[in-house]
Amino acid sequence: MKLSKAIGALACALYFLAAVGIRAQPAPANVSGDRLVHADDDKNNWLTHGRTYGEERFSPLDQINPASLDRLNLAWHADLETERGQEATPIVVDGVMYVSTAWSKVFALDAATGKQRWAYDPQVPGEWAVHACCDVVNRGVAVYDGKVFIGTLDGRLIALDSSTGTPVWETLTIDRSYPYTITGAPRVVKGKVLIGNGGAEMGVRGYITAYDAATGKQVWRFYTVPGDPSKPFENPIMEIAAKTWSGQWWKFGGGGTVWDSMAYDSELDLLYIGVGNGSPWNQKIRSDGKGDNLFLSSIVALRPDTGEYVWHYQTTPGESWDFTATQHMILADLQIDGQTRKVLMQAPKNGFFYVLDRKNGKLISAENYVPINWATGVDKQTGRPIEEPQARFANNPNGLFVSMPGPTGGHNWQPMSFSPRLGLVYIPVVVSGFPYAADASMTADRSQAFNAGVQFGAAVLPTDKKARDAVKSSSFGELLAWDPIRQKAAWSVRHPGIWNGGVLSTAGNLVFQGTQSGEIAAYDAAAGTKLWSRPTQSAVMAPPITYAIDGEQYIAVLVGFGGAIGLTAGEMSLGTFPKPNKPRLLAFKIGGNDKLSPDAVVMTAPSNSPPPKMGDEKMISMGNDAYHLYCGMCHGVGAVSGGVTPDLRHSKMIGDLDAFNAVVREGVLSSRGMAAFGTVLTDSQTEAIRAYIIDRAYHPIPEDEN
Ligand code: HEC
Repeated sequence: MKLSKAIGALACALYFLAAVGIRAQPAPANVSGDRLVHADDDKNNWLTHGRTYGEERFSPLDQINPASLDRLNLAWHADLETERGQEATPIVVDGVMYVSTAWSKVFALDAATGKQRWAYDPQVPGEWAVHACCDVVNRGVAVYDGKVFIGTLDGRLIALDSSTGTPVWETLTIDRSYPYTITGAPRVVKGKVLIGNGGAEMGVRGYITAYDAATGKQVWRFYTVPGDPSKPFENPIMEIAAKTWSGQWWKFGGGGTVWDSMAYDSELDLLYIGVGNGSPWNQKIRSDGKGDNLFLSSIVALRPDTGEYVWHYQTTPGESWDFTATQHMILADLQIDGQTRKVLMQAPKNGFFYVLDRKNGKLISAENYVPINWATGVDKQTGRPIEEPQARFANNPNGLFVSMPGPTGGHNWQPMSFSPRLGLVYIPVVVSGFPYAADASMTADRSQAFNAGVQFGAAVLPTDKKARDAVKSSSFGELLAWDPIRQKAAWSVRHPGIWNGGVLSTAGNLVFQGTQSGEIAAYDAAAGTKLWSRPTQSAVMAPPITYAIDGEQYIAVLVGFGGAIGLTAGEMSLGTFPKPNKPRLLAFKIGGNDKLSPDAVVMTAPSNSPPPKMGDEKMISMGNDAYHLYCGMCHGVGAVSGGVTPDLRHSKMIGDLDAFNAVVREGVLSSRGMAAFGTVLTDSQTEAIRAYIIDRAYHPIPEDEN
């Protein structure tokens, strides 16, 4: 064969292979490290939690834009079975969507049709729910190299085969003798799966772990707070951190869980983690009221290969209010004072919007993005908040301080979004206060309780209608467009409920957000004008995503209420979200023609009359305390359910001692998420709780709030 002929044949063969390659289905979940680094160029896909390692949640897709918006309709919907909170960001890789739901279940669907490919249920034991401060939620999976990674509520990290949903490996990431949970989405960086955990309301010590994506073997673990100082420190930085603590913090856990946010800069090779609140919140109990308590409420930069500490910035030194810094972080290059700065942006719970230099963690600027009263500003030299002394409630004569914001934060886990085109950050904001009342009686050995060192009973709304309305009307949500360079608002849209969805922005000059009141809407990204909306029937907390298949752009979002506010806020969230709570995945496209079934019948509160009152004032008061330690986080403050879990005031069981004990002490409903309390409550505490619930059943809730 002549050389030229041979080359010709070879070229032909290559051409043929390439053509076949193009036509064939891409390998399933073919996500390489390189593809993740360049996720922004991968227009049609949503490859990682925040779409890119910089977590902008901005998409370059623009087929859906103000001109085409009126034809944006439901393309498909998929019903989900668990009526608990839905918080996940779906991942879309080459036409396949991978999404997690309540109870850490995973589904793979055809992203163009919603048709299910496989489903995986990790069989989380129902009783583990008792360790979850804020519902049995899950915020998403990671996809890499043919595998789908899920962190489960009971602390496992599981790798699934992306084609079949079959487990490839599974590893336990926690010590099960502590009340750890996983609700956050893993990230994959340089072939390692990164996962943290939650539990700082229940009494744990926070950390993040890296596992080899191929094998599940642990590569490194970074603790965020020091352990028992009589034992060797894990690394030199823990020894330094321990100098900022007092008392016997390790007996309480200390906290600092890495329960949600991470970001990665591949050029600087820095992994950023958001660190949570103290365990317990009340610093007086945790650390004798002294010290900065590193690395609580901090952003910490680590080396992704080794977990080695590089720098930190602490947003709330000596935190005492559940002011986590676990909120979403976004990496961007901003023009500040004539220079291009590599920044990290965060709007943590404490109410300040931070712009940091992400090379070294130095503060560039910080201003409050919601009304605040616990501090007057941030000192630009030291980077520390200028606190109002009375904000340290445990020192006050009555142990109380009503703070703006409260533990919901000015912003919680619901992701924000950054449009590099307009230079605006879109924040799902919460405007709400909270009465912090110290619980000086707290001890380190209390289990299955909400161990914050704060009395939640103080947050029960007054019965007086005027006073109630005053509290309720001062709490609301906002979609806030924030200019991070000028540190001021560009526009905002007010929502009636505080617990609205995460945010997406697109090159179509649009911002998408779902609401607690049950709709998804699109706003003009520059002006905030509402341009489009569709009913979702149930509340939306999850952030929308966008992707394209065969030239068609889709907007997809999970629907379903729950989470911290859905479960705990009871009275506050009454009347602000549609019932029943129907969990679903919705996908919209231009010219979509799917329909949701007509709104299901709206439930009215059951009106069975309560059983006769029992107990004296002392017993009811004891029941109040115990209820808010052991029950309120799921059944609502003041024994008023927001509608996601049973409203105990209307339960027939409160008038039936045996039935009540079978559920509460023996756990006959434990597989359904209602754990047994027989080992942690005495008989008289259980009776006191029953007396308190019955007493609450006699407090009428105004008609218009139900
Ligand atoms: C971790 C969340 C959680 C905690 C904490 C919790 N519950 Fe529950 N509870 C549930 C869920 C979920 C159900 C509904 C189970 C089902 O689907 O049947 C439930 C059901 C019940 C029921 C049955 C209601 C009915 O009429 O069907 C009673 C009574 C009850 N809980 C009392 C309590 C008491 C008292 C406490 C505190 C000691 C408590 N619960 C703490 C989640 C919780």
